[in-house]
Amino acid sequence: MARSFTAFLLSLLVLTAAACGGGDADGDAAATSTSEASSGAVTAADVGPVTSVDLGPLDAQLAAEGETIYKTRCTACHKMDTRYVGPPLADVLDRRDPVYVMNMILKPEEMIQKHPDAKELFAEYGTIMTNQNLTEEQARAILEYLRQVDADAADSDATN
Ligand code: HEC
Repeated sequence: MARSFTAFLLSLLVLTAAACGGGDADGDAAATSTSEASSGAVTAADVGPVTSVDLGPLDAQLAAEGETIYKTRCTACHKMDTRYVGPPLADVLDRRDPVYVMNMILKPEEMIQKHPDAKELFAEYGTIMTNQNLTEEQARAILEYLRQVDADAADSDATN
């Protein structure tokens, strides 16, 4: 009887030790995945769903598709050059990386909760950007359109 109780205690100890070990391993893993930002700040890739974007040379056809979607789904709240319900977007790619822009389009609610810059914008604008339920392909097309707008602005700066 006494012996089996001791065995029980021992197995408890082993289990607890194992659980603690597991906890430590998790802590280490979390530390590595955020090591890019030493402050532990959440990046847009941490929020997802998009974790990386391949940008090739500007694709005019994709940008044209993006422009059509943008004009129907985004202009209720965004203008290119001035503040409206949301921030101006003509130079958004000078301020933000493509993964951030894609995830802001696909998961605005989560970005506002988790990403420090999106959180700050929400505090400033006071409106939650509505999720337009776009596919990743549609968001990618809008990103291409925003790249084109940004490139056109750079061109006109150069000629001015
Ligand atoms: C209901 C209004 C609304 C609609 C519709 C909307 N947005 Fe927004 N958007 C906002 C607001 C407001 C913010 C600032 C963050 C916040 O408060 O949610 C924002 C932020 C953003 C940002 C981040 C800007 C920055 O400087 O970091 C991007 C990019 C963006 N929107 C793109 C889009 C695109 C593309 C569409 C169309 C698919 C769209 N938005 C549709 C209101 C809207």
